[in-house]
Amino acid sequence: MHTNVVKATEDNLEEIIQIAAKALKAGDVIVMPTETVYGLAASAFDDAAVRHIYEVKGRPQDNPIIVHISDYIMLNDVAADISDEALLLAKRFWPGPLTMVLKKTDAVSPVVTCGGDTVAVRMPSHPVAASIISTSGLPLAAPSANISGKPSPTSAQHCIDDLTGKVSLIVDGGKCDVGVESTVISLVSDPPTVLRPGIISIDDIREVLPNAEVSPSVFEKVKKGEKVLSPGLKYKHYSPNAKVILIEGPLDRFCDYVESHSGSGVFAMCFDGEEESIPIPSMSYGPKGNARIQSQKLFSVLRAMDKIGAATVYVRAPESTGTAMAVFNRLIRAAGFEVIQL
Ligand code: TXA
Ligand code: MG
Repeated sequence: MHTNVVKATEDNLEEIIQIAAKALKAGDVIVMPTETVYGLAASAFDDAAVRHIYEVKGRPQDNPIIVHISDYIMLNDVAADISDEALLLAKRFWPGPLTMVLKKTDAVSPVVTCGGDTVAVRMPSHPVAASIISTSGLPLAAPSANISGKPSPTSAQHCIDDLTGKVSLIVDGGKCDVGVESTVISLVSDPPTVLRPGIISIDDIREVLPNAEVSPSVFEKVKKGEKVLSPGLKYKHYSPNAKVILIEGPLDRFCDYVESHSGSGVFAMCFDGEEESIPIPSMSYGPKGNARIQSQKLFSVLRAMDKIGAATVYVRAPESTGTAMAVFNRLIRAAGFEVIQL
């Protein structure tokens, strides 16, 4: 399949949105930018189109997909029994990087929800995503536009690397502003439970819903056979080809540790300004303590590690609370939930 890559500019925006909307109405799967990561989108009402998403990504068949909407009429088309709690969260955080798990309507394809009776819904704030959804008039099922298991794409180039020849259209909207995927919160569980941390932190959510909790699976490996609220939690994610090892502790001990484990293909991921002190080749993923910038850079640095052929990557661990929980969660998953304390 030929993949048409189009860069959205002010001049051609209207035309690109029309092309994307037409493709989606015809049942195509396309790549679109969102404020978090790029999405691989198709109509949430179209069984065949959604099946095609799973094929393109190589996504496990039991991992449901988020539905993206552009207004509250669409919310009612896809979700039922919407609680006051859900509406309070929506009022505060939509449009934006928050996904809510709600009861589904019959209109949503069971392929989206893997036969389940709940649907994850998000109203993105990215103007290109929002216009594509509203112009097509379709709620869009869209997982991150990476091959399953690879780090999520935060630039059009990442999508080109993964999906050329597999989709008809990639809309290039530049670098994603947030850089990690949306916060996912289940409102069908009591108390409301964060299943995946994002840039909207548990503290932000508790300002609206004080009883909200974080699922233990954010920090711990799901045990074999254990029932999970979100099937995505079972899978090792965000993982480059290299073995990732997450290390907590001060910089001087990190330096000693990596020096004694150095060798060909061994790299470090560190904070800005630390490269000079680290005795092995390293790349930084943002300033220490600045989760916002770490989120923006994380996936492209993990992808860059693959490009240079890293076999082992020792990573300076970020904080694990507040906004940084999102970054910590992606890294601990990339590391297969192993953390070394120095
Ligand atoms: O920021 C994002 O959320 C991006 C952009 C494209 O919007 N999308 C994204 O989708 O990250 P994906 O498919 O890579 O991750 C969706 C997560 C998975 O962990 C999945 O298991 C969970 O949401 N999920 C989807 N539907 C669910 C449901 N009905 N109940 C529980 N978890 C669900
Ligand atoms: Mg994903």
